[in-house]
Amino acid sequence: MMHVLGVETSCDETAAAVLTGERRVLSSVVLSQDEIHAPYGGVVPELASRQHLTSISYIVGESLRRANLTLDRIDAYAVTQGPGLIGSLLVGLSFAKALAYYFDKPLIGIDHLEAHMEAAFLENPGLPLPAVALVVSGGHTSLFFLKKRLHYRLLGRTRDDAAGEALDKIAKFLGLGYPGGPVIEKMGLSGDPEKFSFALPKMKDSSLDFSFSGLKTAALRLIGETRMSASHPHLADFLAGFEGAVVRALVDNLDRAAEKFKPASLILCGGVARNKRLRDRFDGLARGSGLAGFVPSPALCTDNAAMVAALAVEKMRTKKKTGLSLDLDAYPRFRLTAEY
Ligand code: KG4
Ligand code: ZN
Repeated sequence: MMHVLGVETSCDETAAAVLTGERRVLSSVVLSQDEIHAPYGGVVPELASRQHLTSISYIVGESLRRANLTLDRIDAYAVTQGPGLIGSLLVGLSFAKALAYYFDKPLIGIDHLEAHMEAAFLENPGLPLPAVALVVSGGHTSLFFLKKRLHYRLLGRTRDDAAGEALDKIAKFLGLGYPGGPVIEKMGLSGDPEKFSFALPKMKDSSLDFSFSGLKTAALRLIGETRMSASHPHLADFLAGFEGAVVRALVDNLDRAAEKFKPASLILCGGVARNKRLRDRFDGLARGSGLAGFVPSPALCTDNAAMVAALAVEKMRTKKKTGLSLDLDAYPRFRLTAEY
């Protein structure tokens, strides 16, 4: 039986996973650095890469232990190449490269956004295509059209902040903790999202791009005007309203993309896809449009290595092994532009 070991260190999670050639997940280990970055209200790149260096060997070892395997049973290595924090990416990439070199096995470079989308296919192998996918995380907010497997066309992306980044920044400003998305979700649960009004920016053209900086500025202005704080009696209302506006902006664009491209399925993935308000609105949209809606289970939404190894298996199966080489290099910036 074939085994693939995946490694993911693009941001602040050190992750490793072992999958079979049939894409059965034998182990998936994720070590979050949340506690390290929490005092700063956001990821500190230098601290992230140092922590990856400290953890990577243990996390890879743990993924093998849980899969009940040793390194000599691994047939291929998969690693996130980018986009992400360059120092963090290099830790995972160098580690996987060294293993592939030593054991003389293939090394498959994986794009992080493509891996997030793959999480939906890992749990739903029969996902009907074509699909429109929304990748929404701390670093990315992008819409893709998937005509067939491993084929992506960029429909729109954020022109400024990512949705998760906007949530993280407002939580940081109010001193609520990091990561901001889950904190805002929890603290806003009892709130009335209609109490404060958040107008959404309108794109002047018919583009499917996103923009969150205007919403963030409006939230900051409201914080000033209402003297909003962590102890304000209407904090829950404010957070529910802000989260609701972010969700509305995401779902509205997805709705327009679905209208325009008439897919068979809708996919929602990335860290922010853990959000209940977003998941509910997404389900409502899919149902209302008569489409099949797919959201990975929460552990597969945030960064993990199972999605990395899964994508590598699919690429090997279809022989689309882009970047299969020890010359692989990390890339910090978004690469899935136009058609891919
Ligand atoms: O995919 P991910 O783990 O890392 C990136 O590729 O960026 O996503 C992390 C992002 C953070 O911005 C975090 O605040 C957000 O996902 N997030 C959430 C929730 N859980 C994580 N946002 C809203 N609601 C959540 N429950
Ligand atoms: Zn991610």
